[in-house]
Amino acid sequence: MHYFKYKKSELYAEDVPVRKIAEKVGTPLYIYSEKTLLRHLQSYQQAFNGYPSTICFALKANSNLAVLRLLAKNGCGADVVSGGELYLAKKAGIPSKKIVYAGVGKTDEEIAAALKARILMFNVESSDELKAIDRVAGKLKVKAPIALRVNPDIDPKTHPYISTGLKKSKFGIPIENALEYYRLARKLNNVEVLGIHKHIGSQITTIKPFIDALKRVILLAHNLREQGIEIWHLDIGGGLGISYKDEEPPLPEDLSRAVLPLLEEGGFNLILEPGRSIAGNAGILVTKVLYLKKNPEKEFVVVDAGMNDLLRPSLYEAFHDVRPVIKNSRKKVLSDIVGPICESGDFLAKDRMINRASQGDLLAVMSAGAYAFTMSSNYNSRPRVAEVLVKGREFFVVKDRESHKDLVRGMKVPKHLT
Ligand code: LLP
Repeated sequence: MHYFKYKKSELYAEDVPVRKIAEKVGTPLYIYSEKTLLRHLQSYQQAFNGYPSTICFALKANSNLAVLRLLAKNGCGADVVSGGELYLAKKAGIPSKKIVYAGVGKTDEEIAAALKARILMFNVESSDELKAIDRVAGKLKVKAPIALRVNPDIDPKTHPYISTGLKKSKFGIPIENALEYYRLARKLNNVEVLGIHKHIGSQITTIKPFIDALKRVILLAHNLREQGIEIWHLDIGGGLGISYKDEEPPLPEDLSRAVLPLLEEGGFNLILEPGRSIAGNAGILVTKVLYLKKNPEKEFVVVDAGMNDLLRPSLYEAFHDVRPVIKNSRKKVLSDIVGPICESGDFLAKDRMINRASQGDLLAVMSAGAYAFTMSSNYNSRPRVAEVLVKGREFFVVKDRESHKDLVRGMKVPKHLT
């Protein structure tokens, strides 16, 4: 559910016409809806209300400071994967005790920053990393709270680029070797074992893979307890899918209904790391039609947003619905919606039956609140676009459009070239 709806023939973001925002801020631009973000966060909070739990939003999905602040003010924690994300989470006011830190390549500096911030725990992905955390914590004379990220070898049946829980994946440690890693962790003086972490993939549209993976993890937790290794936090990662087209993914309440009975006697604190299911359908990308082109095979609608602004269609062949900001009754034609980047892979949508576009039309690329702006780049030296947050009848620019000056920020021409 989201709050980008038509009123008569015009698309609104909550109670603001999208056209009005585009006129004021220019295109391309991202628009996020506060009410949608909150609705999604609250659906997690309500679903897991009866069990000790922490919802840690995965910043990689959307790391706009205003979005994070909104989530923080409403009780949300953070799942971070870099020093940069840790910085943003803190800056947004997310309490350290609600921050978990994953990722296969944490540097000493990043580990030290997280230790100094006193985060809830590190989700550790290898024995080398375990030793590095122990070493850095030793230097700082603190104990590092950790969970090991285990790889339960469950196929989440999603796009191969976004499945992470299979044996061949670079993430986590194989669950069958977990005991041995936990024993190693226990021997280290400067780490304190607090939990188990797993995340099997993203855009998962059925409950079964979550349950299969969780069962394996719970078994491991009990085995560890028998060995005297106490497990407090069960971090079950993110991964709930959203509807881009006609998917009907489970809701947080479906997840809780399936998960909580398995945990009943465990006495764990449950951690969830949703990203897409909170932010994905809370954002759209608005773009303007520049030109129309016809070749013998099909029609191309050239718009002002490209793969540098929204990479998902090019990278994963991901489907994003494209809707006119102002509905019209023109004839429907088979079209590709393409960007201005000099790559044939630069498209936002392929082979869509859409009302024939006209120069200057505004189009809304739907479900663009997650892995959208965060994956954008300056490719083709295109300034990154503006971001706007809507609240009811009001809207706020929460990130300025970059300028050409921003493109050369930090660049230096050595003396011999001047
Ligand atoms: N926790 C961990 C450890 C993760 O690696 C991820 C996502 C999440 C949580 C959040 O997962 P979510 O609830 O959003 O599914 N760029 C891709 C998605 C990559 C996801 C990476 N990890 C895309 O655009 O589809």
